[in-house]
Parts: sequence; C-alpha cells; structure tokens
Amino acid sequence: MNHDSDRPRHVPVLLRRADEILGPALESGGVLVDATLGLGGHAEHFLRTYPAIRLIGLDRDTEALRLAGERLAPFADRITLVHTRYDGLPDALRQAGLPERGSVRGVLMDLGVSSMQLDEAERGFAYSVDAPLDMRMDPTSELTAADVLNTYSHGDLARILKTYGEERFAGRIASEIVRRRAQRPFTTSAQLVELLYDAIPAATRRTGGHPAKRTFQALRIEVNRELESLEAAVPAALAALEVGGRIVVMSYQSLEDKVVKQIFAQASASRTPLDLPVELPGMGPEFAILTRGAEKASETEIEENPRAAPVRMRAAERIQAAG
Ligand SMILES: C[S@@+](CC[C@H](N)C(=O)[O-])C[C@H]1O[C@@H](n2cnc3c(N)ncnc32)[C@H](O)[C@@H]1O
Repeated sequence: MNHDSDRPRHVPVLLRRADEILGPALESGGVLVDATLGLGGHAEHFLRTYPAIRLIGLDRDTEALRLAGERLAPFADRITLVHTRYDGLPDALRQAGLPERGSVRGVLMDLGVSSMQLDEAERGFAYSVDAPLDMRMDPTSELTAADVLNTYSHGDLARILKTYGEERFAGRIASEIVRRRAQRPFTTSAQLVELLYDAIPAATRRTGGHPAKRTFQALRIEVNRELESLEAAVPAALAALEVGGRIVVMSYQSLEDKVVKQIFAQASASRTPLDLPVELPGMGPEFAILTRGAEKASETEIEENPRAAPVRMRAAERIQAAG
C-alpha cells in the first residue's frame, strides 16, 4: 500500500474539545500519553500547541507507529513511541524512565480502528470490500478473524456474536458458520457477508443496518481482545495520572463506553464507608468527572467527518493522590 505524503490526512475526532480538556493540564509541560497514537493527528496537535510537553505514544499497530513516527519527526527529541497494547502502559512508562503511578499530566485514548486500518482493504476490517478475514490491529499477533470462524465452537461463536455484536440472530449465524465451514473453511469477507445475508431475515435487514455490521464488530473485538485490553488500560491510565492530570477517552461503540463509564464512576466515588455521616480525611474521591454524561460530536463535525458520528467522549481529572 502506498502512503504518499499527499494522501489526505483525516481530521482527528473532537480535537477542539480534547484540547479544551487536556490543555489546562499541559500548559506547564509534563508527560502526555497518547495511548492510541494511530496516525498521530491528535499527538501532532498537542506537541505543536504545548511546546513544553513530552509525548509517549502507544499503538499495537506497527504500521501506524511507522507512519506516526514520520509525521512526528519534527518533534523527535520530545517523543517516545512504543509498540504495545494500551494495557502495556505501565511497562511503557517504566521503559521511558517514569514511575507507573503519578507521573503523567495527560492521557488520551481515541479507541477503535484508525482510518488507515479501515482504508487498507487487505486488513479485512471493512465488510464493504472482499478481503482476507484478518482484522488484526497488531499484524504480529496470531489470531485472525478466519481462525475464530474456522475453529471456535458453536457456543463460543454464538456468545461472542451476542455479547460483542449485540446480534439478535447470534445462534442462527453460529449454526450456519459451523455448517458452511465443514464444506469450505472461511478465508474471505465475501464468504461471511454472503452467509449473513442468508442467515438474517430480510425484514430485519431493512431496519437493522448492514447485516454484516454487528458480526464484523464482534469478530474485531474478539480478535483484538479489545474489551479485556480496555478494562486493564483505563485503571492503569488513571493510576499513572498525577494530581491535576487529566484523561480523555473517546469510544466508538457502546460496550467500550460502558467499560469507561463504570471505571470512571468508581474512581470518582467517595472512599468513605457508606455508613459514616462525614467524609473521612483523605478518603474523598480521587477523580472528578469533567464531562456531563458522554459527549458527542457536533452535527457540523459529523457532516465533515462521518467517522465522528458514533464517538462518545468521557473525561476526568485526578483531584487527590492515590490512597
Ligand atoms: C482511532 S485510531 C487513533 C487516531 C489518532 N488519535 C489520530 O489522531 O491519528 C485508534 C488507534 O488505536 C490503536 N489501538 C486500538 N486498540 C489498541 C490497543 N488495545 N492497544 C494499543 N493500540 C490500540 C489502533 O491500532 C489505531 O491505530
């Protein structure tokens, strides 16, 4: 795939809002962790706007890291890029010579797939083009979407389609996968899309969006262990923040947003036992929530960048050192 420098650069999602929230924490410098570096759009903005910060950029996709490295070359002396899942954040901090707790001023997590991953048909994330059933965000990892389809039991297939895809017809689709793979193993997305057109009743198709949408989402979450990784990464990111440090997380589907919401709710709750009438000293909440519910992109932003349509942003600030 050719990555010309004249290739259009996608505008980072909710950039202005992310800047409004993280900016006050970064004005006097410190470390910003971009846990989902992608093509480095957000990272470039923050490095340019806050000349005293140092950036640690993480991504599990080696190609994204290479391209972001090229884009951020003008800031080479202020950046450390690390190939890791975002739950590897504590190790990445240690490698950069920082304690894993209380050493970071800002964390940004812009979850999901990058526009580059979606645009590169051969990586198999898009159901609209026929491609190998891959879907690995980290091309060096083992499990592919084809492996899941060809080796998982009926029960496991139905479970992931239902839980990660919120697919009503999970059981029926799982049965059809098991039946068809006995004749011919799955290798391409067109085989799967054809199956989904056959398995999902036409009446539902008219209201439920593209029949492949939910199954592709479920496979992607399974292949990349996305929720497990997030459930470990958000607490690690919160622990890494110093007092006054802020975190912004942007989710693109409800399961991710639910994980973030729950962890933030716990982190912003009082630690004083419920039966005590007054807050015990030092037992108040460690975090304050900075967003009201989950914030969405404006109509104008969605018009300019349809990929911003599903985004849900949540943010928090550490107001007390970890107990
Ligand atoms: C939406 S893109 C980020 C775009 C970026 N903010 C920009 O402005 O260019 C999400 C990135 O997160 C990476 N990613 C997704 N899950 C990850 C995980 N568990 N660990 C590390 N990186 C992950 C993907 O590989 C992708 O490059």
